[in-house]
Parts: sequence; structure tokens; C-alpha cells
Amino acid sequence: MAFSNISTPPLLFALLVVSGLASKTLHIFQHLESLPLLYLVIYLPTLYLPDVLVICLGRVLLLWPERRWQWLVCAAGAVLAVSSLLTWGASAIVFGFFLQTGAEVEWTATDSFVRDPAAMKLLMSGISTVCAAATVLLLVAWLIAPRLYSLTGSWMDTLGGICRLGVKESYTLLPGNATKARRWRCSLKWLIPVSVMTVSLTFLECTRPAVPWDHLSRALPWTLLDAFHTPSTEHCRPPRIPFPLDTDKDGKGHHGHHGHHPHHWVPDFRPATTDEGPLQRPVWLPDPSPPGFHRWDQQHGADFGYQPRCPGNDQVYRPYNALTDPLKVSNLGEDLLEPLQQVLNRSEVSIQHVVILTMESGRKELFPMQSGTPLYDALLESYRPADRDMAIDQLSRMTPVAQMVTGEYAVDSHGQRNVFNDSSTVWQDTAEEGMGGINVKGALTGSTLTFKSLLSSHCGVSPLPVDLLEEVNHQIYQPCLPQIFDLFNSFKGETDRMTGFQAQKWESVFVQAVTDTYDRQHRLNEMMGFRHVVTKETMRNKKAKYFPPKTEEINYFGYAENETWPYLADIIHGAVEKKNRLFLSHITSSTHHPWHTPEDFPQKQYTGPRGKHNYMNDYLNTIAYADEWLGRVLLLLDEAGIANETLVVIVGDHGQAFSEDSKMTGTFENPHISNFRVPLVFRHPHLPALTVSANVTSLSIVPTILDLLVESGSLDARDRSVASGLVNEYQGQSLLRPYQTERKNTKHSKGKGKDKDDNEVSLWNFGLINAGGAMISVTASNSAYRVILPLSSKFEYSFSNLETDPGEKHPLHDWTADGLLASVASKYGDGAAEWAIDAIRVGGWWAHEQKRIWDYRG
Ligand SMILES: *[C@@H]1O[C@H](CO)[C@@H](O)[C@H](O)[C@H]1NC(C)=O
Ligand SMILES: *[C@@H]1O[C@H](CO)[C@@H](O)[C@H](O)[C@H]1NC(C)=O
Ligand SMILES: *[C@@H]1O[C@H](CO)[C@@H](O)[C@H](O)[C@H]1NC(C)=O
Ligand SMILES: *[C@@H]1O[C@H](CO)[C@@H](O)[C@H](O)[C@H]1NC(C)=O
Ligand SMILES: *[C@@H]1O[C@H](CO)[C@@H](O)[C@H](O)[C@H]1NC(C)=O
Repeated sequence: MAFSNISTPPLLFALLVVSGLASKTLHIFQHLESLPLLYLVIYLPTLYLPDVLVICLGRVLLLWPERRWQWLVCAAGAVLAVSSLLTWGASAIVFGFFLQTGAEVEWTATDSFVRDPAAMKLLMSGISTVCAAATVLLLVAWLIAPRLYSLTGSWMDTLGGICRLGVKESYTLLPGNATKARRWRCSLKWLIPVSVMTVSLTFLECTRPAVPWDHLSRALPWTLLDAFHTPSTEHCRPPRIPFPLDTDKDGKGHHGHHGHHPHHWVPDFRPATTDEGPLQRPVWLPDPSPPGFHRWDQQHGADFGYQPRCPGNDQVYRPYNALTDPLKVSNLGEDLLEPLQQVLNRSEVSIQHVVILTMESGRKELFPMQSGTPLYDALLESYRPADRDMAIDQLSRMTPVAQMVTGEYAVDSHGQRNVFNDSSTVWQDTAEEGMGGINVKGALTGSTLTFKSLLSSHCGVSPLPVDLLEEVNHQIYQPCLPQIFDLFNSFKGETDRMTGFQAQKWESVFVQAVTDTYDRQHRLNEMMGFRHVVTKETMRNKKAKYFPPKTEEINYFGYAENETWPYLADIIHGAVEKKNRLFLSHITSSTHHPWHTPEDFPQKQYTGPRGKHNYMNDYLNTIAYADEWLGRVLLLLDEAGIANETLVVIVGDHGQAFSEDSKMTGTFENPHISNFRVPLVFRHPHLPALTVSANVTSLSIVPTILDLLVESGSLDARDRSVASGLVNEYQGQSLLRPYQTERKNTKHSKGKGKDKDDNEVSLWNFGLINAGGAMISVTASNSAYRVILPLSSKFEYSFSNLETDPGEKHPLHDWTADGLLASVASKYGDGAAEWAIDAIRVGGWWAHEQKRIWDYRG
């Protein structure tokens, strides 16, 4: 048959077959590692069953007798055409997404994406891969269409023929007995195998465990329906549920469960029995509460327009209460760290201004780039041995500013640290030797979704474990930094300007070179209390001071950082002139996919010829650009003469996994640890250079800033009393004091016969995985173990030991908690399995509790 005259129906049918089967095969392949081989072999046919049914249906539609009911023929054709084209398109997207990121498409999230122009641009950035996948699928379909069509046609004819034969023959001349015998034989030949197959498939289908097989077996046209799923809004307010681990509340702790696995542990939805009563209103809080401080308003939560029928549930919203939070471990009662005591006591540190620089996709391994990380080793591996010295030298000079602000100096091939005292670096550290501030090693982000991460670093809250920035539809349960500074402003009169900076007013500004329309970021900024915001839209406004923009946009979100430079300079110099205290928040953006740098930025080759490193090299170049930009911002502070009075907090919003790190790349639904390790620096030229090694999260930023403002005498008496009261309300610890990784329950120490260890509760850390509602990462500050807890049956459990496997190359995966615990016990021992049980319980409780605190009903 000539290829040119393949008619449309066979091609449509072939598209349906090829796209459906190919995407199903990919889907299974992506989970291959966690599927036990024996079960996979047994259940494999049931996984393809839905697709086979869809295909059969498609073929039957094509078979419709053409003469009768013309309209039905048309309708059947239309149904087939629509479903084939949809399946084809969806399959192309699935393959495109896989080739770009290694992840699976989440159709439920598409709705939010489609409504968001900036998000659409992000999706469109992968369009070429999707088109390539579509072309390949089409080509294969086109090649097999004629054969497939005639083959399936002849099968159907055979099937149909048998039936007709059976019917016809009973009316023909053949003797009755012969017909019967023939029909018997026919039935035996066909009916037995068919019914055996049907029965066994049905049996397998009914007896196979729902997780993961149901998720794996869904056919593509069905999964597409997820995109049209709209979450219902009429839901009950989540009740408070008892904390699952041993606390000071009751004596029956988790330690009684030795050897018992939490069989599909689900939160205990009985409402918690202890009623803590209303939250105590702090004495320093003005009445009515200013924005951000609504938590202490007794009325809050009572004014909902509807009263859902939720028997047994709390109908009153109980806000976050630091006093009864079973996960909170406070270190505010501890003394300041030794090196800080002297300088803070002698008032040698003054903090007039605060700057938070959030480094987009900033990985700790690259801040600074230095040896001793799996990524660095992978980069060196990509060079031929003869070129490695050259590579080491180049990498050691890649991020000079990060080296200076962290005090972690990379060494060159001679083991020497570089001296950055010439014009080759934009900025030189003016701090004296041994000074510079606190450098944290071991920080993990609270969320690999940027804006959720900003919520932790600016407001000290844990984000909501649901997809995307749903938080903007709720109230942030803690005051954010701009709101705290606004509260301080409300105490200040106009006349106090001459008496020391403590009497000056604060001005909060948010600056970024990209759009703030992506995922409702503009609403987030508003909610956090930023009234002065500079974004791509500001700079493109004809009335903007430096209109038109000097450079081209470098990615689908906006400009490179340097476009904001004149605006930043105005803001910084303006604060000095107006005698304002500046709170500046700035987030970099070039370091985001697709990792483009401005044209005049000299590109370097950081990856060697071995292996495939296309994105990694682009990413490293943007990291070098961001490092230089960080130097420019610090230089602005120097030039304005305020560097000695400015606290600069540098933090990564999240990491970024590449193919050098894990099979799956990017942050989307990828729990890999390289998405979590971030730099965290509290820089001040008059603070001693100090390294804090602790598993902290960005929750510590707000308490540390408040503690530092108080302890350095940078607030007047009234602000100081507010700040020192408020700091107790946050979940995070202050990094000026020894970090507590466990809480000792003093209440229990009197208990008779109780083991001392029983009274210690670990400090648990949680991290959400982009887009937020799929799974959470659970770690504890006193352990190197890590558990990934799925929040829906579409994702797997996993466990890793970061001490023996720092690059997380060999995590254990399983679809059930039981399965995971069994393999943890056999690989790492019972202690690790017990830890994992606790992690799974506490993680489930936390996810529920977060929804309750945010008053999220979904
Ligand atoms: C701090 O200074 C006060 C006096 O100004 C002194 O009494 C106190 O001992 C000092 N504390 C430390 C830790 O140096
Ligand atoms: C930089 O430091 C090195 C070694 O400390 C010194 O030899 C050199 O003269 C310095 N360069 C400048 C420009 O200060
Ligand atoms: C950054 O922008 C400023 C002002 O627009 C300009 O003077 C400077 O040359 C730019 N620097 C780079 C490295 O592009
Ligand atoms: C900043 O402090 C350092 C001492 O750490 C001092 O040498 C320098 O002159 C100060 N800079 C300004 C602008 O006051
Ligand atoms: C937490 O700290 C411990 C001990 O300092 C370390 O072994 C472990 O790797 C850290 N865990 C994480 C998740 O970084």
C-alpha cells in the first residue's frame, strides 16, 4: 500500500493505539524501580487492560455499518477523532515533560497553569520537545496505520464471522446435530480461552492492591479528565488531632510500638481532647490588631458566611499557638553563642537596615563552588585527568563573592586559596579578618516552590501542603517582617528623626527583575506588607524613571538582575537621604530555567567533555553571574556608606537537581535532596565570622533577625519589648544561640520508671515539594535519615541515609509504608525503621495540622 493514500480513520486509530500504549509504557517505566518484579509480571496485563479496552472501543467505532444511520457514523467518527487527537497531544506532552525533567505530568495542576500567562510561557519553553515527541508518535502511527487497521479488521471479521456462522448455520440445510456439534466446537475454541482470560484478568484486577496499581493502570484519556477537576469549596474545617508521638501530654508513647509497623497509618481524626482555651493576647499588641497580627483577634474565624455541617469538629478556628505546638523547640532561653556575646554586649554591632537576598535555585554546593560535594566530584569527573588541574583552578574562581561572604574559601590545584583583592572581582570584602557574620552549613529549604519558600523566610511560617500558592486565599498566620516594621512605625512620631536611627521609620521594598504575575506573587507581596514593589512591570511602565529598559528580557519571566540596578541604587541612596530604615527584599532570577545570561556576560565552559551536561553548564554560568550580581549589590551598600550598619541575609529559595544529581531533574515533584540544600548567611561586617553547622530551615530567619535587632541594641525600648515578646511566637529557633535538636520534656522527668530518653522529642523539619501538595520531606535535626512521605496515592514513599549516601544516589522506594519500613529495617536496621515510623506519623500529622493552622478546607 502506498503511504501517500492512507485514509484518515486508520491513521486516527493508529494514533490512539501508539499514543496510548507508548505513554502507558513510559508511565510504568518511570516507576519500574519501586515495583517488585514478580508482581509487575503478574499484574502487567491488568495495567494495559484499560488501554486495550479504549483501543477496542475505538476500533468498534470505525466498524459501524455505514449504510444505516449516517449520523451515528459521523458521531462515532467524531468521538474517535477527538479522543485520538487528545491522546496524541497528551502523550506528546507526557513524553516532552519526561525528556525535559524526568518527571510525570500532573494534570490536576494544568488548570491553574492555563489561567496564568507567566506559567503558560514556562510551559511553552518546553514546546520544542513536545513537538518532537508528537512528530515521532505521528510518524510511528503513520507507518503502522495500514497494517494495524487491516490486521485488527481481520480479527474483528473473524470474530464477527464466527457469530454469524453460528447463527446462519442453524437455519441452513445442515442436519441439526451437525450444526450443534460445530457450534460447540466453535464455542470451545473461542469461548474457553476468552472466558479464562476474562476471568483471570478480572480476578487479578480485583485482587491487586489499589496502591500503586490503580494509579499505574489508568488510561491516558481518563487521566486527562483530572484537568477538569475543580476542588469543591464546601468543606469542613479540619479538626485538631492528637500529636502521634510521645509528648508531655500522655504516657503512651511511640516507644511502645516497637516492631509494629503503622499499617497504612492515617491521622487519628478524633478531635484533640485538651482544649487550650483562647489565645492570650500579648500586652504589647495594639487594639485593633494591625495587619498580620490578626491571630490574636478573638473574633477571627467566627465571621464565616456559612456553617457547614461537620459534626464533632471544631467550628471555631483555633489559631497557631506557640505554647501548645508539640513540634516547637525553643532555644531563646540559651545564652548567646560565645563569640557573639562580647561584640553584642559592647554594642559594636548596629543594624539600621536589613536586606534579604534570595538566590533563586541557589544550591549550597555552589555557594561557594568548592570541593567535597558529590556535584563537584561529578564535574571533575567530566574532565580528562590531564585537564583536571585547569578545571579545579577555574572552579575555584567561579564564585568569589560567595567565598568572601561565607568565609569558605575554595582552593586551587596547588591547595592555595585565591586572593580576591584586585579588580577581577566586582566587590572586595571590607570586613576585618575574622569578621563577617554567621554562615550556616546544613540549611534546608521549607519548600522547593519559590513563593512558598519566601513565606518561610519572610514570615516565619510553614507553607500549606497543597499545590501552588493557595496561601494567598488565606491569612498568613504570623506577622511578616514588613508588617512587624510597620508596627514599629506606628509607634513613631514625626519629630524623633534627629535622635539616633532607632527612632527612624522603616521602609519595606521588594525588588525583582521579573514579572510578579506568576502564580499570584503580586498578591503574596501585598499580603506580606510590601507596598513598594519593583518588578518587570514597573520597569516597563512608560512613567518609570529609567524607562525604557536597557536590556532584552533573558527568560520567559523577565530581565536579568542588572536591569534593576538603577532602581536599587535609588532605593538604597534614598533611604540614606530620607533617614529611613530600609528593609529590602530582592530575589534573583537568571538562575531559573532556561538559565540564560545577558549577552555581554562572558560565558565559560565549566563542564568537561565527558558525559552530557547541556543544562548544567548554562546553570553554572548563571550562578557565576548571580555571584557577580551579589557583589554589585554589596558594593551599592558600600558606596552608600551603610554596609557597616546593614544586616544582609543571603538564602537560597531552593536547590535545583540536574541529571548529574538524580534521574529526575528540576524541582517539580522531585524530592531529591539537591533541591533542598541552600546557603544561609547572616552577614554583617562587625559580627565575628562564625560557622553554624545545623540542620536548620528558613523558618529560623525571622527569629534570628528579631533576636539580632534586640541583642545589638538596634531598637528603641518600645520596639525592643515588642520584638523580644514576638520572637517567642515563631516556630523557628534563633541562630545566635546554640541550636537545640531535641526538646527535653521537663514535665515528664518526675514520672516513675520512665526512661530518660523517652522524654526527648526530636526537632522535626519539613519541606514541601513543588508544586506543594504531592509529598513532603521529613528530616530531624539530630539525624541523617530522610523520609519522603506521599500525600496522595500517586507518589511513592522513600527513605535515604544522608550520612552514608550524601548525594542520595540510592534511596529506598516503596509504594506502601509497610513495604518501605521492611526494606529500611533490612538495609539500615531496626533503629532506622523506628525512626522512619516516627517520621511517617509526624509528617502525616504535620500536613494535617498545617491545613488546620491555615484554616484550609479542601
Ligand atoms: C555585658 O556587659 C555588662 C555591663 O555593661 C556586664 O555586666 C556583663 O557581664 C557583660 N556580659 C558579658 C557576657 O560580657
Ligand atoms: C593582593 O594580595 C597579595 C597577597 O596578599 C599581594 O601580593 C598583592 O599585592 C595584593 N594586590 C593588591 C592589588 O592589593
Ligand atoms: C548594569 O547596569 C548599569 C546601569 O544600567 C550599567 O551602567 C552597567 O554597565 C551594567 N553592568 C553590567 C555588567 O551589565
Ligand atoms: C566600617 O567598619 C570598618 C571596621 O570594621 C572600618 O574600617 C570602616 O571605615 C567602616 N566603614 C565606614 C564607611 O564607616
Ligand atoms: C543533620 O545533621 C546531622 C549531624 O550533624 C548530619 O549527619 C545529617 O546529615 C544532617 N541531615 C541533613 C538532612 O542535612
